[in-house]
Amino acid sequence: MAANKKILVLPGDGIGPEVMREAGRVVGWLSRKRGISFDISEDLVGGASLDAHGVPIRDEVIAQAREADAVLFGAVGGPKWADVPFEQRPEVAILRLRQELGLFANLRPAIVLDPLVDASTLKPDVVRGLDIMIVRETVGGIYFGEPRGIETLADGSRRGVNTEVYTTFEIERVARVAFDLARKRGNRVCSVEKSNVMESGLLWRQVVSALQAREFPDVELSHMLADNCAMQLVRNPRQFDVIVTGNLFGDLLSDLASMLTGSLGMLPSATLGTLDEYGRRPALYEPIHGSAPDIAGTGQANPLAQILSLAMLLRYSFALDDEAGLIERACTTVLANGLRTADIMSSGKARVGTSVMGEAVLRELDKVAD
Ligand code: IPM
Ligand code: MG
Repeated sequence: MAANKKILVLPGDGIGPEVMREAGRVVGWLSRKRGISFDISEDLVGGASLDAHGVPIRDEVIAQAREADAVLFGAVGGPKWADVPFEQRPEVAILRLRQELGLFANLRPAIVLDPLVDASTLKPDVVRGLDIMIVRETVGGIYFGEPRGIETLADGSRRGVNTEVYTTFEIERVARVAFDLARKRGNRVCSVEKSNVMESGLLWRQVVSALQAREFPDVELSHMLADNCAMQLVRNPRQFDVIVTGNLFGDLLSDLASMLTGSLGMLPSATLGTLDEYGRRPALYEPIHGSAPDIAGTGQANPLAQILSLAMLLRYSFALDDEAGLIERACTTVLANGLRTADIMSSGKARVGTSVMGEAVLRELDKVAD
């Protein structure tokens, strides 16, 4: 019999452990009601790891992540660690995982579920039915480019440097993910850069165009400057299907896109690496929201993004589309029934906390599995 698939669970800081607990209950449900079990191990990352071990992520944890079939990540960071040395920031945990596992393609869907159309700060007519996918490059660009650092100049003043750098290979591999995804969706890709001011952006545009002509002539490609894209996302977000962009623009635009949906607390993400010779693809799944230290420990956090990240994990790492679909539908039903955590609360709805929301999802799941 094949060994169980391995999942490494890294809850992290702040609300991370609270929302991960609810995802854990869904994992329990999968085993009880669907006969799908995993070998689960759990470890510390971020500030929690810094406090316990003096580093934001231990090498053993990186090694475990490499061995796992998938990593389910919570969130890291918080004011408690605001003053630690730069190399020890809690965020280093996620940056190292991305880089050392080669997790280059970050898939960030922004979907407006019907029951939540009023939670957006934009007019319902602008966002109803929204379904876009941002594919963000995550191991290159200005996040990792050299030279970097802060130096002191001869006159005693200081100079901070970071470098935006992209190679043909890096652009092609992330663009391929975007084109492949587009074929399964609306068949349109919009490539985003600043080719009007940056050479790295000009190269990005040329490489994506050439790749489309060569390998994806059936997919419609457009190009947009990043500032215009930010504006268009707010003006008329439904014009987009798949957006592909570099690390920094993707960071900004995906936060923007997520807010079109009304709540960061709703959105999962997947970060994928390269298929190896055994058909294994390293992958990490995490909610887009952060560790929300302001509400940590109060039991108010919305667990749906973490639960939906688990659904993405089932779909992309294990091809368990049926189970992923069941979980996604259970989340939508709970919302349609009027339950809301504080972040998506609106008048006439029932405000609930983290664990009641998690329980409600389990109840919906039980209805379909019995
Ligand atoms: C994200 C986050 C990270 C990033 C931080 C925590 C390093 O903002 O995943 O979007 O900038 O990539
Ligand atoms: Mg971000």
